[in-house]
Amino acid sequence: MTTRLVVLASGNGSNLQAIIDACEAETLHAHVVGMVSDNHHAFALQRAAQHNIACRVVDASHTSRSEFNIQLARAVSEFKPDIVVLAGFMRLLTVEFLAHFPQRVINVHPALLGELPGTNAIARAFDEFVAGKRTHTGVMVHFVPDEGVDNGPVIDSADVPIYPTDSLADLEQRMHATEHQLLITALTQLTKEHTP
Ligand code: GRF
Repeated sequence: MTTRLVVLASGNGSNLQAIIDACEAETLHAHVVGMVSDNHHAFALQRAAQHNIACRVVDASHTSRSEFNIQLARAVSEFKPDIVVLAGFMRLLTVEFLAHFPQRVINVHPALLGELPGTNAIARAFDEFVAGKRTHTGVMVHFVPDEGVDNGPVIDSADVPIYPTDSLADLEQRMHATEHQLLITALTQLTKEHTP
């Protein structure tokens, strides 16, 4: 039995695409059984649909954070995931969601542990580089055990250099390429642990 993945994404979905491609190439012994977004306009929804992956949108407007998390847990549970992957999911998850999936929610974040939690981490790293405050940044894939932001136990991480000739776009491209690789490496490790 292959590992059942549910991917949560709010936007472009390039990390979702990397997972889909690895599953289809069978370099990753898993399959994406569902994709859930909080954003009706997410390009990630189109990517999933192109691969016949079932999609759900859970709308966060007109609802409390708590109620949103309850509805999200319901939508994700229907897919019976072994692993829930946050791949650019831009909503804060609370215990109302996380308690349903203990040790099973992972996140990809474009910074190293404890350095740049939250949004716009790549741009903030670039600004710090320009200001002479850092020489490199990195990517991590980590568990999401609680409501802490981008600070759960690290599954795998990779340093990413920043070069003096880089534009922000150059760095973003290098970071996203690193994310796509690291996510597959981490999922490969987890699916091996998961296989009976
Ligand atoms: C990635 O940089 C991810 O690390 C961050 O949000 C971005 C999502 O990119 N959490 P994409 O939607 O997967 O292209």
